[in-house]
Amino acid sequence: MTELQGKICVVTGANSGVGLSACRLLAASGAYVVMLCRDRQRGEAARRDIERHAAKGAEVELELADLASLEDVRRAGERLRSRFARLDVLVNNAGVYRARREITPDGFERTMAVNHLGHFLLTQLLLEPLKTAAGRVINVSSEAHRGGNLTRSPLEEIFRGTSAYQGFQAYSDSKLANVLFTFELARRLDHASAVTVNALHPGVLATRIWNQNANPVSLFMRVMKPFLGRPRRGGAAVARLAGDSSLRPVTGRYFKELDEVPAAQAAHDEGLASRLWRLSVELTDERG
Ligand SMILES: NC(=O)c1ccc[n+]([C@@H]2O[C@H](COP(=O)([O-])OP(=O)(O)OC[C@H]3O[C@@H](n4cnc5c(N)ncnc54)[C@H](OP(=O)(O)O)[C@@H]3O)[C@@H](O)[C@H]2O)c1
Repeated sequence: MTELQGKICVVTGANSGVGLSACRLLAASGAYVVMLCRDRQRGEAARRDIERHAAKGAEVELELADLASLEDVRRAGERLRSRFARLDVLVNNAGVYRARREITPDGFERTMAVNHLGHFLLTQLLLEPLKTAAGRVINVSSEAHRGGNLTRSPLEEIFRGTSAYQGFQAYSDSKLANVLFTFELARRLDHASAVTVNALHPGVLATRIWNQNANPVSLFMRVMKPFLGRPRRGGAAVARLAGDSSLRPVTGRYFKELDEVPAAQAAHDEGLASRLWRLSVELTDERG
């Protein structure tokens, strides 16, 4: 049974793939969906699409922010915090995979900046409204987190992109950061707040994430597209974590699509999680 009617749900990366499919399902269940996207045109096109799937009473609106820019994230988070006293669901879904190293204007390696740091800051900014609603945080990670290695170089060098770069390693590192952050946030949250936080692998899916590079991993995934899962499968897994009432008390877990499974051993390294947390606070200049 879902409990999404009238619930306020913020979804990042809402104009494509898993995020778009999740928004369609949330709106179809009567939720108030806030799509967080970086491009107005792509966001508006997706908003109209989601509205076509919406149940009576559902609302769909667009909020703009580039997750690679901490200033943008801070502005969007503050706008949302001032507009919504309560927030029922936050889906940290936007993600990139870059074969070549890119440094953001803030001075961070782009994969880590978008996939982890921007979402870390957004979550901190939205914690109060999430607490008011006893909300749910869903961090879209990946089975690729199992190849993550955040001790191969000093953590700050990985964040700054000054250590050796290999695209899929950087992606796996960022997805490990998603799971470490999930578990650490679950430990830190005051039990009285009743906010839950879980990580999700949405499936291996035919989405645009594989279109952005001409390297062997992306080319292989493009060839495999007819055999990959549809984005809807990932969207359904998100919607279930967002609204299934039987999952209400579940927190600090890792889900592979619909099943709870053990995360990689590295994701349970509390010392590493705490170092990751401290560095993320320092770099986002936000109290955690
Ligand atoms: N597809 C898979 O097989 C797979 C497997 C495991 C995990 N995942 C995870 O699933 C999540 C969703 O990916 P997807 O497969 O649905 O890929 P996708 O179709 O490429 O969607 C990614 C979304 O992230 C947004 N995004 C990228 N950079 C951004 C930025 N700087 N600021 C704001 N938004 C940004 C994109 O917006 P634009 O349109 O503006 O680029 C897009 O809406 C990711 O976290 C990914 O790691 C995917």
